[in-house]
Amino acid sequence: MGEVRSIFGRPFLIDPDAAPGSPDAKWPDPPLGQNILTDHAIYHSREHFAREWNDLWARTWNIAGRESDAARPGDFFRFDLGPESFIVVRGEDGALRAFYNVCQHRGSQLVDEDFGRRRKLVCPFHSWCWKLDGRLDRITDRETFADAVVADEPPLAAARVATWGGFVFVNMDLHAAPLTDYLAELPGILDVYRPEDLVVVKDVSATWPINWKIGLDAFMEGYHAHMRHPELIRLIDDYHFQHDLFGRGHSRMIIPFARKSPRLPDPDALTPELGVLLAEAGLDPADFAGRAQDLRAPYIAARRAWGERYGLDFGRYSDSQVADDWNLNVFPNVTLNVHPEGILVMRFRPHASDPETCHYDVWVLARTSPVAGFRLPFYMDAPDADLSGQAPRPARRYIRHGEDGMGAVLDQDGAQLPLVQRGVRSRGFGGVRLGYQEIRLRHYYEEYHRYLPAR
Ligand code: FES
Ligand SMILES: [Fe+2]
Repeated sequence: MGEVRSIFGRPFLIDPDAAPGSPDAKWPDPPLGQNILTDHAIYHSREHFAREWNDLWARTWNIAGRESDAARPGDFFRFDLGPESFIVVRGEDGALRAFYNVCQHRGSQLVDEDFGRRRKLVCPFHSWCWKLDGRLDRITDRETFADAVVADEPPLAAARVATWGGFVFVNMDLHAAPLTDYLAELPGILDVYRPEDLVVVKDVSATWPINWKIGLDAFMEGYHAHMRHPELIRLIDDYHFQHDLFGRGHSRMIIPFARKSPRLPDPDALTPELGVLLAEAGLDPADFAGRAQDLRAPYIAARRAWGERYGLDFGRYSDSQVADDWNLNVFPNVTLNVHPEGILVMRFRPHASDPETCHYDVWVLARTSPVAGFRLPFYMDAPDADLSGQAPRPARRYIRHGEDGMGAVLDQDGAQLPLVQRGVRSRGFGGVRLGYQEIRLRHYYEEYHRYLPAR
């Protein structure tokens, strides 16, 4: 493939004038080749699913939850991943630990709740008990067990745990490289947002009839937006995303807001969706009728003023950070839609046993403000969130595929993706053919196959 050119006369850059090394600058693309990805068994084969568990999931750092959900001694949350379940718990000594959620007596899971607070971890079956640091506390009726069975005082089995940006990561590989190495360039890009200050204002988990990667793939490209998300392309330029490919499989796509799709007729016409965007930033859409092509500068200025009003310190962000969705992929299974006022997190987890089912988690993490009237913009899809900083953390809501509740855009993907799942297993499917708008997938699968060499 030669150089990729837009037919609309604009480069695939958020800001052609961005200085090299500045936050908005395009990263040079590494060489990736142009293969057709013919190994589509990765989306449906049980044999591959088992291999993936051992060679990928058991070796990577995985986002398990938020540190704020295990803030005080005794606070814990449960993290289920494929066939495993973990307890992430804050000890009396203030240290955060992760244990496999399994009793060393006869294997019952120890906790069933999503979140909670305990002084000790007591098994619900025969009441064996562990301290929060994983040491055995008590065996009920100890005198009835021979020493040969319990002399080792079995502790809970530990996994590695590390934190960055308020996210808790768990790794089953006790010899894995440290999280800071694993995250490569991501902290350098994201630290300015201070993600550790964000609070959870929405937490939804759905079960979808697709392989987890079919879901992730769709959230790493904007190419499908013109078909699946007609209202979205009336406020974003779905064609000219900027794609940046980092180390270790992580990547970014910058989604330009306040610039409608060049696919739409009448480039100057203001759409209702752009009108909402402007109004939420404090502008009067009527002032911009017929001016859809020069909204960026006034929108960015208005957003900065909006941030100022609520004490959000937008001064530290670049223009693109203020306006756009910085969509970051955290290898292997999380997408962060980063905005200065919050992050929309999407996480795809494999099912315990079925390669064609996954768990799709959506969290909204938001900044708080004591200033009355602070609300998240509509694209965060959490209109009723209490952002005062005083509200309790919402409970996790579980929804089945086909039930409403993920939000309109995500429901559109939910209707489409099972068609992909059924198609990729067809004998008539020749392989995945990727274009420039899908370059993050090509980069992602290069890293993926470092863990799982193609056979
Ligand atoms: S299985 Fe846990 S105490 Fe028996
Ligand atoms: Fe989508």
